[in-house]
Amino acid sequence: MIDIHFHCLPGLDDGPSNWDEAVALCRAAAADGATRLIATPHVLRGEWINEDVDARDDLVLRLNTLLEGSPAILPGCEYLFSTEALALLDHGTAGPLIGLNRSRYLLVELPAEVSQASVEAAFHEFGVGGITPVIAHPERHPALRRSPERLARLVSRGARCQVTAGSLLGDFGERAADAADEFFRMGLVHFVASDAHSLGRRPPRLAAARERVRRAWGAEAEQGIFEANPAALLVSEPIPWTPPARAVRG
Ligand SMILES: [Fe+2]
Repeated sequence: MIDIHFHCLPGLDDGPSNWDEAVALCRAAAADGATRLIATPHVLRGEWINEDVDARDDLVLRLNTLLEGSPAILPGCEYLFSTEALALLDHGTAGPLIGLNRSRYLLVELPAEVSQASVEAAFHEFGVGGITPVIAHPERHPALRRSPERLARLVSRGARCQVTAGSLLGDFGERAADAADEFFRMGLVHFVASDAHSLGRRPPRLAAARERVRRAWGAEAEQGIFEANPAALLVSEPIPWTPPARAVRG
């Protein structure tokens, strides 16, 4: 499996604080069935600036060396959306934002308080610039939980959605679990990722989430979400599986 959202670069954010923890976390993901992990440190989020892409690349290289290639660590980041988004987009590859595996897919976290109109306008410009935003864990976002049609509008404008594995397994409470189910019913879920941070607090649980998706939504959804879509993302291809909206849970 490919895990497209994973905090494994030590000392950059609220993920592992040292190399031993980073290696143990990545090995746990491999034991859970992940072969490739995209390192997505928080960028431009409060105290976590992490603007230096070269410094991040050095950590990816070092972690790959320590892991001897298994699992493979790929570059990426998790960008906290702000009013700077379009200015950052103008910086292109000279800026702090890189796509997942340097693809055209950019992992974007939406702040709790954000104007729908500003996100829609920015995502439109992202699309014009050839970038597809992947919205990180919308099921944990209060406004999107309250108003799923907001998420639907962003998806209709080209955004894609990543639900967090733990949300499907009840790790983030009933509201996140219910919202994830609602987004599945509405056909708004394109990826599931672990968003792993640590073995204790936020461990990688992709295999259990995959089983949950297969049982609840069928083998086709499972294959699309856990195999075909992340494989296409890695190489900047359009995702091959788009979920059907269902009036009644299958
Ligand atoms: Fe994250």
